[in-house]
Amino acid sequence: MGILITGLGRSAPLAGLIARAGGFRLAPATEQQFPDGEQYIRLRGSLRGADLYIVNSLFPPNDEVMAALIAADAARSLGARKVFLVAPYLAYMRQDKRFKPGEAVSSRTVAALISERFDGLLTVDPHLHRYKSLREVYSIPAVALHADEAIAAWVKRSVKQPVLVGPDSESRQWVSRVAKLCGAPFTVMRKQRFSSTSVQSSGLDAKLVKGRDVLVLDDIISSGHTMAGVIRQALELGAAGASGVGVHGLFAPGARKLLKLAGASHVVTSNTVPNGAARIDVTPWIAQAIKEGIA
Ligand code: R5P
Repeated sequence: MGILITGLGRSAPLAGLIARAGGFRLAPATEQQFPDGEQYIRLRGSLRGADLYIVNSLFPPNDEVMAALIAADAARSLGARKVFLVAPYLAYMRQDKRFKPGEAVSSRTVAALISERFDGLLTVDPHLHRYKSLREVYSIPAVALHADEAIAAWVKRSVKQPVLVGPDSESRQWVSRVAKLCGAPFTVMRKQRFSSTSVQSSGLDAKLVKGRDVLVLDDIISSGHTMAGVIRQALELGAAGASGVGVHGLFAPGARKLLKLAGASHVVTSNTVPNGAARIDVTPWIAQAIKEGIA
C-alpha cells in the first residue's frame, strides 16, 4: 500500500504540508479530548498494509505523547504494516540527567514508551545536549533533521549583515551551521541556569554587536527568559536591533511579553510547533527524509 501520512490534532496542517511536499497520500484522523482530559483518537480510511507516518508535534507534551502512543496502537490494530512517529518537536528531551538527588530522568521514560510502539522516529533539532545522539535514548531507528538550511534561507531574506548569537555553549552546533550558510559572523555565550525561569547568559562581546543587527538563535523558546536576556544585553551593548529565531516556539505564558519588553524587533520560529510566529517552513525537509526512509 505504500506510504500514508496522518496528522493528529494541531499537527494536522503540518501533515498536510508534508503530504503535499512529498506527494504522499493523506489519511484523516481525529484527536479530541473527553471532558475529563482523556485523549480520543480516531484514524480514518484503510490503513491495511500501509507504512503509516503519524505526524504529531509533542506539544503540549503530556497530551501529545499520550495521543501518539494511543494512535500507534490503533494503527497496528487497524492493519498498518509499519508505524512511524514524525514528531517535528520532540518533547521530554531536556531532563537528560539527574541534576538533583531523586529526580526522574523523564527523557528515558518517554523514549522507552515511544520506542516500544513505533518502528522509527523522525524529528527536527531534538534537544541533544548531554545526549549526543538519539540512539543513546531511543532504541528504534531515529532520524534528527536540522532546521539550519530553512533558518539560513529566512535570515538571508530578512536581515542584512546580521551577527548571530547563541545563548549557551550547546547552541554552537546550530549557530555555527546557520552562520556558515549565511556567511555571517557568530558568537556563543555561556549560560547558567538557576531554575526553569531564572537564567543568565554572559560573555557577549560589545565590539562584535555594537551598531549591528543581532539575531539570537536557540533551539527552544519556552519561558523566553534565555532569549530575552540575550536580546536585552545586546541592546545595552549598542546593537542597532536585536531579534530572535527559535526552532521550536513553545511560548509558555508570558514569554511573548517578556521578549517584547526586552526590546526584540522580531521573534520568529520554524513551524515544528504551530504558533503565530512560525515563518520558517521545515516540512520540505521532513518530506524528503520520509522518502529516503528512516533506518
Ligand atoms: C536549553 O538549554 C535550550 O537550548 C534553550 O535555551 C531553553 O530551552 C530555552 O528555555 P527558556 O525559553 O525557558 O529560557
